[in-house]
Amino acid sequence: MQEVNKLIREAAEKAKRETDAEPEPQLVGEVTWPVEVKIGKGLEGAIACTTKVGYVNGSKGWLIYRGYNIFDLAEYSSFEETCYLLLYGKLPTQKELDEFNAKLVANRAVDKAVIDVLKMIPTAKTHPMSALRTAVSVLGTLDEKAEETTVEAEREVAIKLIAKMATIAAAIARIRKGEEPVEPDSSLSHAGNFLYMMSGKKPDPTFERIMDVALILHADHGMNASTFTTMVVNSSLSDMYSSVVGGICSLKGPLHGGANERVLYDLEEIGDPSNVEAWFRKARETKRKVMGFGHRVYKAYDPRARILSPLAKLVSEKDPANKKLYETAVKLDEIVCKELGVEKKVFPNVDFYSGIVYRSMGIETAMFTPIFAVSRVSGWTARALEYLAENRIFRPRAVYTGPVKADYVPIDKR
Ligand code: ACO
Repeated sequence: MQEVNKLIREAAEKAKRETDAEPEPQLVGEVTWPVEVKIGKGLEGAIACTTKVGYVNGSKGWLIYRGYNIFDLAEYSSFEETCYLLLYGKLPTQKELDEFNAKLVANRAVDKAVIDVLKMIPTAKTHPMSALRTAVSVLGTLDEKAEETTVEAEREVAIKLIAKMATIAAAIARIRKGEEPVEPDSSLSHAGNFLYMMSGKKPDPTFERIMDVALILHADHGMNASTFTTMVVNSSLSDMYSSVVGGICSLKGPLHGGANERVLYDLEEIGDPSNVEAWFRKARETKRKVMGFGHRVYKAYDPRARILSPLAKLVSEKDPANKKLYETAVKLDEIVCKELGVEKKVFPNVDFYSGIVYRSMGIETAMFTPIFAVSRVSGWTARALEYLAENRIFRPRAVYTGPVKADYVPIDKR
């Protein structure tokens, strides 16, 4: 897949030219207490733990998994290898990767009970993320080892979840179209098999490679809302299935993973590159958030969007409707960067171009966020496992601003 690798390399070189800095952790060393605190709305600036899993340098636009730059992982790695890296903290040898992959493949199938439950869900009214949440919950009830909360036992569950969530998401995609789920094909890669289980057809090699890249790019991203949710649930020594269900619930929202779906609805609403300027003016007037832009941590162009943009161009080119979506997106990107980028450091995030990639592969818009979850389960579980090794229950505090001496009035006197 030289063409895809070339596009990633060009995106990496452009990022280097524009940000000209090597990533360095900005927060190191011990925090000594007591410290003076300021309440950061949405926990802005709060430090929850130390980690070796991944690092986001928001001002320079760099993303690192276990020391490895996202551009290198996108170009040279695979989703399977990236999962191993996140879970075990090092790149695998060929033997280790083969064994890990064999384990993933062996765990791809899901119990019929999960599929039966999915078929009972009224698909027209239910968002696929709600179906995914339900199915993962059912999966937990079927695993007799689910309640074992040692790091080793939870790592096994993490591997099962990485393998099975792709199968579940693909089954949801098919059931929504009134089609029977497709059994996994053990000869295919994780990304290839995922596409195959969704479409029922052997995947186009370029689509397979690009889905693999998309899964790598979405695998981990600091203490985002869904990762933190997963870790908070796991810190009470609940179980890994419950923790991942928590992550799915959090990812679903439009301010987080749900944005990828909304981007497509916005681009369809805009309709044509020539309408972008007027649409954006109206959005600003009405204080409407532009989906796929902005980030709590990135105050620079998201490196994942740098990679996904040329890949979206590549896959959308053949279909006039998808090509128009891409051109509309590029125009919106330019206008937002010129205006909000300068004023508020708001740039495209990972969700801005991913939807065009998935749409060009023939995937239904409502399935975009489940695809995100199929990847992010690796980061959720890697960070929950890292924290579990030296677990302490998460328990922040709030500053109470209500009354303290209210007189209780009996109900008939109120
Ligand atoms: N469109 C327009 N203005 C924006 C946007 C946007 N997408 N994002 C931020 N801004 C503005 C804010 O209104 C704010 O302006 P103000 O200073 O005048 O009040 C300023 O930029 C700073 O943004 P915050 O509100 O501080 O950003 P916050 O960290 O609270 O929220 C978030 C981050 C939720 C991602 C936000 O940018 C947003 O809603 N974006 C759209 C949804 C989206 O794309 N989410 C996906 C994020 S990536 C991910 O989760 C996988």
